[in-house]
Amino acid sequence: MILKGKKFSVMDLFLLRGLISYVARVIVLGSKNISSKESIMSSELLERPLKKHLPTEAVTSPHFEKIPVKGYEQVIRVTDQSAKLDAIIAIHNTTLGPALGGVRIYPYANVQAALDDVLRLSKGMTYKAAIAEVGFGGGKSVIIADPQKTKTPELLRAFGRAVEKLAGSYICAEDMGCTTEDVKIIRQTTKYVVGLPHVKSSGDPGPFTAWGVFRGIQSVVKRLYKSDSLEGCKIAVQGLGNVGGNLVEHLFWAGADLILSDLDAARLERYAKKYRAKTVSAAEVLRVECDVLAPCAMGGVFNDATIALLRCKAIAGAANNQLLSDVHADVLKEKGVLYAPDFVINAGGLLNVAEEVEDEGYTPAHPRYKTHHIYDTLQAIYEIADKNRESTHSAAVSLADYRLKYGIGRRVIPPTFHHSAEPLSVGR
Ligand SMILES: NC(=O)c1ccc[n+]([C@@H]2O[C@H](COP(=O)([O-])OP(=O)(O)OC[C@H]3O[C@@H](n4cnc5c(N)ncnc54)[C@H](O)[C@@H]3O)[C@@H](O)[C@H]2O)c1
Repeated sequence: MILKGKKFSVMDLFLLRGLISYVARVIVLGSKNISSKESIMSSELLERPLKKHLPTEAVTSPHFEKIPVKGYEQVIRVTDQSAKLDAIIAIHNTTLGPALGGVRIYPYANVQAALDDVLRLSKGMTYKAAIAEVGFGGGKSVIIADPQKTKTPELLRAFGRAVEKLAGSYICAEDMGCTTEDVKIIRQTTKYVVGLPHVKSSGDPGPFTAWGVFRGIQSVVKRLYKSDSLEGCKIAVQGLGNVGGNLVEHLFWAGADLILSDLDAARLERYAKKYRAKTVSAAEVLRVECDVLAPCAMGGVFNDATIALLRCKAIAGAANNQLLSDVHADVLKEKGVLYAPDFVINAGGLLNVAEEVEDEGYTPAHPRYKTHHIYDTLQAIYEIADKNRESTHSAAVSLADYRLKYGIGRRVIPPTFHHSAEPLSVGR
């Protein structure tokens, strides 16, 4: 096409059309508080094609088999025989925005075990996102594979094609068994990913999660002793990884009396030396007499057997799904142990990554501010729990349910995937 002596290709016109519709959309979104669910899903931004980045390998469309599960919007078994992909994507709830959640790669014993895990984790993400008010819903995916042996680029790309097929209703990120490098490969076949290294990305979530947990520890101490000073407080930390390690640094500078535990003996010794901390074995840490126990390792740590051993006054840590089941929140309450609900206290990383899809790109000051206020959210939850004579876990779930019911914190501006503007190196 020729316009005023200039020649335009079909691609130029396509890009121009995209730009006009984007500007129009921003104007519309800015002027009306429209229900975002449909607008997000149909947004031109989310439909920006990725095809030029696709690898050249023979592409088969992953097979979708819906698994009906009450209370979940979509649960899909995804298979692709040629890529040896067997995965489940669970979208629990998208009332407040597209479902966001990591990709867990684990050699589950069977499909039922994978299903149980993905259902539990995706629901947890809904609650975490609702309380954090990040404008996302809850989702998660699991790939049944051994990250050391059967994780291949073909499998990851086939998984990416499945995510792409969901057209933005599920956005994935790294999780256990799935590294940033793996997410980069998934990115070759879908743009619906966050947490990749690029100029506008949010980077490592660990330090933000750790700061939120530190503020959460201050919140339980305030509740127990009417002052949030940690000077002289006995705090036991289980797990000195990305979150626990950063947390220990904050606690040290706040004057806490530290008791540390990690399965990795060399790491434990290094931290103990650096922070003049006492050490205990992995078996002992739950029995330690202390003001606060901070579980920063694995989930399911509080069950009938372990709660009976506890000699802490409060629990405030990063681990996901700390309670084996909801009833254990009541058991903790009966025992008089104050519990900072995991999905509230460990939201710093989510707050951080959520910032990366803002139109203007990532800026650390916003998630820092929001993470700092995890303290206040927790204080509000303790108040609600007291008033209703319920556990803190139950109060947090009620607060999240309330936000979901009335759409509080619903996303109105669609997420922007800044990485999709960058060229990819599609190595095979
Ligand atoms: N990284 C984040 O931003 C983030 C965000 C939200 C929740 N979480 C959750 O917080 C927890 C810790 O995350 P991370 O990123 O620090 O993980 P990580 O893998 O970096 O660290 C875990 C640490 O725990 C130790 N460990 C494992 N089992 C243990 C046990 N029984 N006793 C003592 N130590 C043990 C490991 O040796 C390791 O040092 C996980 O449950 C994770 O799901 C992390």
